[in-house]
Amino acid sequence: MTIIIDTDPGIDDAIAILYALNHPDQEITALTTVAGNIGLSVTTRNAGRICALAQVKTPVHAGAAAPLGKEANPELGIHGNDGLGGVVFPEPLAPPTSEDAVGAMAAILLAHPPQTVDLFCLGPLTNLALLLDRSPEAASRICKVIAMGGAVNEPGNVGPKAEFNIAHDPHAAAAVFAAGLPFTLIPLDATRQLRADKTYIKALRDTGATPAIASAELIDAYFAATNGAESRPLHDPCVPLLAQHPELFTLQDRNLSVDLETGALVAGDHTVKVAMGVNAEGARAALLQGLSC
Ligand code: BDR
Ligand code: CA
Repeated sequence: MTIIIDTDPGIDDAIAILYALNHPDQEITALTTVAGNIGLSVTTRNAGRICALAQVKTPVHAGAAAPLGKEANPELGIHGNDGLGGVVFPEPLAPPTSEDAVGAMAAILLAHPPQTVDLFCLGPLTNLALLLDRSPEAASRICKVIAMGGAVNEPGNVGPKAEFNIAHDPHAAAAVFAAGLPFTLIPLDATRQLRADKTYIKALRDTGATPAIASAELIDAYFAATNGAESRPLHDPCVPLLAQHPELFTLQDRNLSVDLETGALVAGDHTVKVAMGVNAEGARAALLQGLSC
């Protein structure tokens, strides 16, 4: 399957990307970037740095610098001033390509047979919403979208019910929900179950593999930004894990909408496939294996 990863790296984005790039069955044809965890120039540079660590020349295309219909939100301090928790990464092997993210998504979709390209969304959904608006014909060729975002029964992480990726650009999320794409959402209800603790960090390090060691350092940096937590959730890695191991996730159809004021998910009239749980032990094992092969 050909895959585009749309992302705002981001500590957990980086782990998700390293896992996806390392997987023999996942052909990552491009990374497209969006402002989210940190500003666009940094997320774009980070996408290039992650590819350099993985020793691949996957094209990186810069996308939206701000959400639709509202000012850019303050960025999340938890990812550090460089978005990757200060972990040392090599410099990008190549500058970002000149084509913008939305144009690149459209070109890739139109160059492949219909329903053969998947989109992994690890950040705010701004780029996908722009694609739906600018190139509906290309968007209709997407096989499936898997996105991390939202909170269904769980409390939010940027508001009582609001999760960062949806709340950063609720207008974009609402447009994506309304589009009726084959769309799977992985909210905090599932991603908070997939946790890394110090034992898991050691297991990653002990593999001796470059992507696993980098992931261990990223999770260490994630710990450094919190006060005495025993484990940290691995949100974005759930996206490529669900693509590879759907049997590990509990999927339900939910009728949802996005509250444009708060960015919370509310009961609504768009049917969305939602991952409400994950077999955490199985997912941790799959992630470890995928980062170390
Ligand atoms: C989401 O927000 C970001 O901080 C993470 O990268 C993840 O995509 C979790 O709410
Ligand atoms: Ca992210």
